[in-house]
Amino acid sequence: MAQKIQSVKGMNDLLPVEQKDFKLTAAFWQAFEDVVGRWAKSYGYSQIRTPIVEQTGLFVRSIGEETDVVGKEMYTFSDSNDSLSLSLRPEGTASCLRAVVEHNLLYNSPQKLWYMGPMFRRERPQKGRYRQFHQVGIEALGFEGPDIDAEIIAMSADLWDKLGIRGYLTLEINSLGNRKERAAHRAALVDYLTRYEDKLDDDSKRRLKTNPLRVLDSKNPDLQEICNAAPRLVDYLGEESQAHYRCFKTMLDGLDIKYVENPRLVRGLDYYNQTVFEWTTDKLGAQATVCGGGRYDGLIEELGGKPAASIGFAMGIERLLLLVHEYGSLKADAAPDVYVIHQGDGADLQAMKYAQALRAAGFDVMQHSGCQSLKAQMKKADASGARFALIVAQSELESGSATLKDLQGMHGQQTVAAADLINTLQQWKSA
Ligand code: HAM
Repeated sequence: MAQKIQSVKGMNDLLPVEQKDFKLTAAFWQAFEDVVGRWAKSYGYSQIRTPIVEQTGLFVRSIGEETDVVGKEMYTFSDSNDSLSLSLRPEGTASCLRAVVEHNLLYNSPQKLWYMGPMFRRERPQKGRYRQFHQVGIEALGFEGPDIDAEIIAMSADLWDKLGIRGYLTLEINSLGNRKERAAHRAALVDYLTRYEDKLDDDSKRRLKTNPLRVLDSKNPDLQEICNAAPRLVDYLGEESQAHYRCFKTMLDGLDIKYVENPRLVRGLDYYNQTVFEWTTDKLGAQATVCGGGRYDGLIEELGGKPAASIGFAMGIERLLLLVHEYGSLKADAAPDVYVIHQGDGADLQAMKYAQALRAAGFDVMQHSGCQSLKAQMKKADASGARFALIVAQSELESGSATLKDLQGMHGQQTVAAADLINTLQQWKSA
């Protein structure tokens, strides 16, 4: 026998059934996508779909060369015909903005866009952290806030309500101020951290040189005391940034959305300023952040567009759905309404005609293929999870009828004329 080929490490198949170490099924995922599509539309967001591969320079310029995502985790290769460097997208914001600038979508009005799809980061795989993972993201482009900052938080909270997981999530917020304020804070932080350089681990020493703010993100317990006492960015915010942050918080209070202020929340991508936030959970082990985002007021300009203040967020679908699977209210509905059973010469053709008529009337119908005994087919009908069975055997064929059976017992079994089939099933289903 030929050797089997395995999937790539950290990249999951989505199957019709649960796997031992990956509980999410394609039907569950589909149920989530249905909810998300309606949710995004209800807030006035339009969908955008961009390629999975982009020029590497897009991510270097937007996410930042010194970030872990760009510096260590991208899948980068050169196109065989030329020397252009390409990368699998590690996130959706850069691609979304590249498309907006390229197609001049902001020429006469702001844009509210959403997207969903696979992203790629070469991280060490573990539960909730994959090399191919999926995000749903929203981007509100051309809005200065802080009203939109609060609205998108309310929008995310609304989705948690719809999925039944609001109670398992905590909202953490912070303000990163503007570029000048961050530069002043950065200088003070470098000064401070340099004094403790011999106590820093290798990762933090590297970050001190490349991206000192990220040292504060360190999970190393030995560094917590140093990080806690470090200069705080909030203390460097000027009046305008403070007013933006204050107004944002007042609106969250008014919307009755609870939050925790985390002055060390800095996010892992370089493009953020002012409002940043994350929704975290203590139910997924180390991979606690389910959704993150913030303002990136300068990014569109950096990518060649006209300046347009903007904000957005993205959620990791795997992390979110692992939480929803365990604690939430979303139900996958993969079972058909009706399983069609047939026996005898010509019964399969008649059964197929009934099945087509039922589908046209809005029922999900699975027809039995092949010719097994009625008993064996009935077993298959039960196993399919269908609510009803429709049986066409010799007697039904001769009398132009079909027998309906409620597999959950409520309506029993009844033989009805072909003309009454749809009506009877509609009544049974709605009873
Ligand atoms: P991010 O924080 O890098 O932000 O990713 C957003 C979410 O994607 C994370 O909170 C997490 O749930 C999920 N995620 C990230 N990496 C992985 C992974 N390796 N495996 C599973 N899930 C993962 C962004 O990507 C920004 N583009 C968000 C944004 C949109 N900011 C403004 N607009």
